[in-house]
Amino acid sequence: MMQNELGTAEVTAEYKYNIIGADVPDETLFKGDLLVASLSGSPRHVNSIYYYDDTGSLLFERLCGEKTYYLFRTERWILTELAKTIAGITGPVSLVELGSGNAEKTTLLIDAYVGTHGLTSYAAVDINRSILERAAENILSVSSELNFLGIVGTYQTGLAEIKSLISPKLLFCLGSTIGNMHDDELDSLLLSARSALSPGDYFLVGIDLDKETEILEAAYNNQSAILTNLCVLQHLNWRFGGDFDLFQFRHVAFHNKSLHRMESHLEAMRDQLINLDKLEFSFQLKKGEMIRTEIMRKVEINTFSEMFGRYRFKQLKYWTDLDRRYAVILFQLS
Ligand SMILES: C[S@@+](CC[C@H](N)C(=O)[O-])C[C@H]1O[C@@H](n2cnc3c(N)ncnc32)[C@H](O)[C@@H]1O
Repeated sequence: MMQNELGTAEVTAEYKYNIIGADVPDETLFKGDLLVASLSGSPRHVNSIYYYDDTGSLLFERLCGEKTYYLFRTERWILTELAKTIAGITGPVSLVELGSGNAEKTTLLIDAYVGTHGLTSYAAVDINRSILERAAENILSVSSELNFLGIVGTYQTGLAEIKSLISPKLLFCLGSTIGNMHDDELDSLLLSARSALSPGDYFLVGIDLDKETEILEAAYNNQSAILTNLCVLQHLNWRFGGDFDLFQFRHVAFHNKSLHRMESHLEAMRDQLINLDKLEFSFQLKKGEMIRTEIMRKVEINTFSEMFGRYRFKQLKYWTDLDRRYAVILFQLS
C-alpha cells in the first residue's frame, strides 16, 4: 500500500480510499504528563485509549467473537432489523462514524442508506490507522462505489474535520464506545459534536444497558478480554520505554453496581518498581495494588438520554433487543 507525501490517498488493486491524519494524532492524549498524573493518582489508572494500538485493535475484534461478549452480536442484530427504519427516519444524510473500528456492523447501515437514498460517501474517525484500513476494505466490499474518507485522529480532532461536510449529517458511534468515557469526557464529546453539527442533524448511539452482574462479568472475563487488558501494558512499554512485566499482572474485571459500570483493572502480583524511561518516571506498586485500565458504562436509557439533552440532543427514538440488553438511540440536534 502506498502513502503520498501528505499522508493521504491509499490505493489497493481493488479499492480506492482516502485516509488522512498523522499516526500519532493527538499529542495531548498520548502526552506523557497526563499518563504520569493518572498513574500517580488514586486510584491509579490509564486512559482507555491505550487499548487501541495495532495489537489491541486486533484483540478487540477477537473479543467481539467471544461467546460471552453479547454486545457485538446484539448490536448487530438490532442494526440488521432496523437499519432501513433508521435510514427512513433521517432521509438522505452524510454518514460520519466515531471510533469505527473495523466497521463491520457499519456495513449494515451503509447497505440501508445506499439502498434507500443512494449514499455516495462515508467518513470514519479512529485513533488507529490500521483498523481504518480494515474498515475501508469492509465498507468497500459491500459498496465499492462509495467514497471512503478515513480520519486518523481522536474524536475531537475528527469532529473538527467533519464540520465542513454537507448537512444533514448522521453522526454515529457504535459498540458502546461512549460507555468508555467518564462524565467529563462525555461532556466534551457532546460539546464538540454539537459544534460540528447543525440543528436538525442526527446522532445515533449504540450503548450497553445495566443488567445482571453474572452476564456482565462473563462478557469481560473471557480469554480475549484478559489479553486485551494486558496488552495495555505492552502498549505503554512500546510508547514510553516502559518495563512492565506482563507476567506479573492479573486481569480483574468486576461490576461496580453503584456506579453502573464494569471496570477493568490490572492487579500487581508482587511488589515491583515500574520505570517509564522516555518519561523519566518510576513508581512502586505493592502486591495486590491495581491500575484501572477502562470503565464500561451500563446505562439506563432515560438517564443516559438526559445527558444528551443537556447539549440539545433530543432523543427521537430508541430500539433494544428482545432481552433489553443493549440499546441503539437516535438523537436529533435542536
Ligand atoms: C469499543 S471499540 C468499537 C469499535 C466499533 N465501533 C464496533 O462497534 O465494533 C472503540 C473504537 O474507538 C477507537 N477509539 C478509542 N478511543 C478513541 C479516541 N479517543 N478517539 C478516536 N478513536 C478512539 C478505537 O481505536 C476503537 O476502534
